[in-house]
Amino acid sequence: MTLHSMWDAFPILQKDLTKTLDIMENSLHIQNKDVEQAIIEMIHAGGKLLRPAYQILFAQFGTEKDENKILAMAAAIEMLHTATLIHDDIVDDSDLRRSLPTVRAKFGNATAVYAGDYLFVACFRIMADYATSMKSLQMNSRSMEKILAGELGQMDKHYYAEVTIEDYLNNISGKTAELFALSCSIGTFESGSTKLFAKKAGEIGHNIGMAFQILDDILDYSQDSQAIGKPVLEDVRQGIYSLPLLYALEQDSSQLKPLLAKKEHMTPDEAQAVLQIVEETQGVEKAQQLASDYTNKALKDIQKLPNHPEGIKETLLQITKLILHREN
Ligand code: IPE
Ligand code: IPE
Ligand code: MG
Ligand code: MG
Repeated sequence: MTLHSMWDAFPILQKDLTKTLDIMENSLHIQNKDVEQAIIEMIHAGGKLLRPAYQILFAQFGTEKDENKILAMAAAIEMLHTATLIHDDIVDDSDLRRSLPTVRAKFGNATAVYAGDYLFVACFRIMADYATSMKSLQMNSRSMEKILAGELGQMDKHYYAEVTIEDYLNNISGKTAELFALSCSIGTFESGSTKLFAKKAGEIGHNIGMAFQILDDILDYSQDSQAIGKPVLEDVRQGIYSLPLLYALEQDSSQLKPLLAKKEHMTPDEAQAVLQIVEETQGVEKAQQLASDYTNKALKDIQKLPNHPEGIKETLLQITKLILHREN
């Protein structure tokens, strides 16, 4: 199993995450060959495994550490994430994921729907088998509701040029930050930490997730599809107005609104015109600033975590800086 190269510098995590992927693969018991194949290919596609990594790291602060359980729960979290990606690519009509054809592009929508469904169910099966407390299952199902609410909030505001920054932040808080929050809080909670500590861990995860999604949305305005392994300027064309565009709209809506009114009929030239206005109004820079505010909050709170076990806090700081593009 080949792991994303970002883990080369973290040998202990690298070993744990490799085991996590093995658990995911060994948890599949599917009759249908296409569905099985689609999921196996996603497991091998080189996802970054950020959520299980946070889950495993935060679990180290607990008093009741059970490695089998920690890794099984990490596998469950990554299965949930994988399910949301497979379904997201159907909804977004995307062809490229992790630099490979999406499940829907390669196997069709039916297989993709069932592959995602299977992963949701398998996630709950593993959670139910390993979780010590009903509270974890409740936390998990509440998170799934929030993820869905974020996605539905986004869908409700499709092609809506009056969407506010507050709406946007609410939506990404659900669709992305929630799973980071869950990964951090469930890791500590299931390892015997107090509810208060789990809550703090969840806040850290939330802020990481907010910064992460804002930075991901900025990539859509970056013009280099190959470098990011996903298509660009896709959100605008599909009526998803993310932060750089929302800042541009605040600044200069008179030029933008007629372009956005073209909706799905926007030509490549018009999409380029949108990009240019976003650049001129510093939409990307402003979005980077807000991402940076979330990152700073997360880093500050990680700094306050216990120093024991040794090295965990430092690893959390390093990984968070790495994924949120921070040099110091
Ligand atoms: C992609 O998440 C979906 C977003 C929240 C932007 P990741 O970038 O963590 O996806 P993989 O698992 O590494 O492919
Ligand atoms: C990612 O959302 C999927 C979820 C968080 C549920 P996006 O549609 O914004 O992300 P990418 O760009 O496809 O990864
Ligand atoms: Mg998408
Ligand atoms: Mg989407």
